[in-house]
Amino acid sequence: MGVRIVSTGSYLPDRVLTNFDLESMVETSDQWITTRTGIKERRISKGETTSDMATEAAVRALGDVSPENLELIVVATATPDSFFPSTACKVQSKIGNRGAVAFDVSAACTGFIYALYVADSIMRSKGVSRALVIGAERLSKIVDWSDRTTCILFGDGAGAVYLETSEDEGILGFDLGADGSYGELLAVPSVGSNEEFPYYIRMKGNEVFKVAVRTMVESALRVLEKVGMKPEDVSLLIPHQANLRIIKAVSERLGINQEKVFVNLDRYGNTSAASIPVALDEALRSGKLKRGDVALLVAFGGGFTWGSCVIKV
Ligand code: COA
Repeated sequence: MGVRIVSTGSYLPDRVLTNFDLESMVETSDQWITTRTGIKERRISKGETTSDMATEAAVRALGDVSPENLELIVVATATPDSFFPSTACKVQSKIGNRGAVAFDVSAACTGFIYALYVADSIMRSKGVSRALVIGAERLSKIVDWSDRTTCILFGDGAGAVYLETSEDEGILGFDLGADGSYGELLAVPSVGSNEEFPYYIRMKGNEVFKVAVRTMVESALRVLEKVGMKPEDVSLLIPHQANLRIIKAVSERLGINQEKVFVNLDRYGNTSAASIPVALDEALRSGKLKRGDVALLVAFGGGFTWGSCVIKV
């Protein structure tokens, strides 16, 4: 028995914040942001909460599938609407499901791959046959809009996948890990800490950059080895959309050509846990990824956490 991604959906708020808009907010320039990150604009919530965006992405992913039949809902997010109820429980109620197991996963930008791993494992071991996995973030709420070193990077959005057990293998394998000793390099303190509000993203960008490239490459090579593939077997690399220079360094080290690398961070910036499912949805809808193709998903995030997954779509 296998698990396959049956359908995908995404939601991005329609409010666009361009690099030129940021020029009037902090001391920066479109040219600096473009050359250092590859980002041109990002989407910012106009009031949509994380669960609103997650719900919209979920509805789009489900299409004609009845939400009542879902047995499992996992949401990856670092920006839940509330500490509890979980974002997954809120989505459950909004889409009209009762009784499914529903919970959130916290692994920052690697969150979606962690959530997919958890869902895949539960489906294989517990006889669960229909699940929804969502990555959703409202990062604009935890960005310090006066800090030019971070506010240029992040955006809001949500992506979702609908999974079913199947005879053929769709999700072929994972490589996941974490190293908490790097925690301070990329962090948002919260209620359990001794910090006072407000809680904003703090980051040592330079140091994060170096570890991100090394870790993503190592993880990608491990997962390919686990599933018995080589980089040339990959139809499309879908990396976490954090920085174009990170994406280029990773794909070059893996020996994967730029035309086989999916990039949308110029339009959305870094949407953390939403980044990979949004990219996957766009890759499928645009025809860059076709049924039968092999995609390599690779992410890295606060924790530090990392994760890779090979899927046959
Ligand atoms: N506009 C203009 N100048 C800026 C700026 C901005 N928005 N932000 C920083 N600078 C300045 C710095 O103050 C520094 O000036 P100095 O040389 O006078 O001290 C200079 O630009 C270079 O800063 P540095 O931090 O070395 O730049 P960088 O090339 O490392 O790029 C990041 C900064 C944040 C874009 C890059 O480090 C990065 O993307 N890191 C990874 C972050 C990430 O992906 N995090 C999420 C992981 S999931």
